[in-house]
Amino acid sequence: MANTAELKLSDQTVQLPIVEGSEGEKAVDISTLRQKTGYITLDPAYVNTGACNSAITFIDGEKGILRYRGIPIEVLAERSNFLETSYLLMYGKLPNAVELEKFTSRIRRHTMVHEDIKRFYDGFSRDAHPMAILASVVCSLSAFYQNEKGTPEEVGELTRIRLLAKLPTIAAYAYKKSVGQPFIYPDNNRNYCENFLAMMFSLPAEKYEADPVLVEVLNLLLILHADHEQNCSTSTVRMVQSSGATTWASITAGICALSGPLHGGANQEVIEMLEQIQNEGGKVQKYVEMAKSKESKFKLMGFGHRVYKNFDPRAKIIKIACDKVLKRMNVSDPLLDIAKELEEAALKDSYFIEKKLYPNVDFYSGIIYRAMGIPVNTFTVMFALGRLPGWLAHAKELSEDKSTKISRPRQIYVGPTLAEYIPLNERK
Ligand code: COA
Repeated sequence: MANTAELKLSDQTVQLPIVEGSEGEKAVDISTLRQKTGYITLDPAYVNTGACNSAITFIDGEKGILRYRGIPIEVLAERSNFLETSYLLMYGKLPNAVELEKFTSRIRRHTMVHEDIKRFYDGFSRDAHPMAILASVVCSLSAFYQNEKGTPEEVGELTRIRLLAKLPTIAAYAYKKSVGQPFIYPDNNRNYCENFLAMMFSLPAEKYEADPVLVEVLNLLLILHADHEQNCSTSTVRMVQSSGATTWASITAGICALSGPLHGGANQEVIEMLEQIQNEGGKVQKYVEMAKSKESKFKLMGFGHRVYKNFDPRAKIIKIACDKVLKRMNVSDPLLDIAKELEEAALKDSYFIEKKLYPNVDFYSGIIYRAMGIPVNTFTVMFALGRLPGWLAHAKELSEDKSTKISRPRQIYVGPTLAEYIPLNERK
């Protein structure tokens, strides 16, 4: 097969190289197009644009495949834990026992945040959205580590460890602030997930032991969210990192991008939508019709995906976990029944079939978070905790790539052509 593509423009023809990935994905490399022809490509929302080569995560949206460093998500969900998966994403291979212990103990050593950071929380109102707090505190932390010694690689590595270690603490403090309870320090004798649950739910007045079911399901949810190649927040992280900004800054930007309702904010919106359906007597068909109507602007939250056009493999795993967890915790949640009914109604509707809209990762995750006692406005924070190693792996990959340039898309200008400056007193 030819390894070049021929592009015929009205005034010229140009040969462009074809790049092939390890899974056979093909791309036309247009990086020299403007230089050779004066043309650029236009692809709003990057629907068709590959922004980088990456060896971290592979997705086949048509077949519903998701693999981290080649390992299927189903296998990791069953056999790995969150920190091991984080190592896999960040360092490109599964750790051996010594490497895993070293990685885990490094993270344990950095779980606390500077005492002065606690005062930042005083400035927020009790109903401040925890994603806003998360982003602000992560960004503020960069000011605590601005004169780090070492090579850029060493500083980058330490920052990544600190972020993984501290984000659960920062998130749990945001929750404690919202409920008016004292902050609970991390306890480094606990594992990553137990520690987070303890910082969320223990009180100085009461002993807390995390339910092993919750620890297990939290591990699972974090693994499922850990990376998803060039999604909106990860692309944002890469974009900011490409400017040479600190990893604190790029992760802050990632958190902000994740907060949007079309991205990480969808899990909160799903529960709000299910609650609304419940309050109206459980009429799911009405919502299916609303989602189909162009006038209503309403979308079925937790449905559809830019990449998955068959099924979202994470949603399959989460749906099974949801049933299992609720049963083991002896919780019966009417929202789960509504969710299943809604899914069934949508999946047999021609609109959803033709547009290839399936439940995504957010559709059932909120129901599990609810059962765990996580408040709805903290669901996206949970997504951020899970996505962090993916963001870090991408920031690391980009920083280590010697060919990295600052990301800077072009545009087609459609504004006024050369215009005159009219003095104020002469303007109509
Ligand atoms: N409910 C109803 N219609 C939907 C839909 C939904 N959840 N998701 C997509 N569609 C429709 C769009 O209106 C569009 O219709 P059109 O072709 O008639 O204009 C078509 O399906 C294609 O969707 P589009 O929005 O162009 O796809 P996208 O790739 O840009 O967006 C999402 C993907 C995820 C942003 C989109 O499916 C969505 O908004 N879903 C709900 C939010 C959500 O769950 N986000 C979490 C993602 S993990």
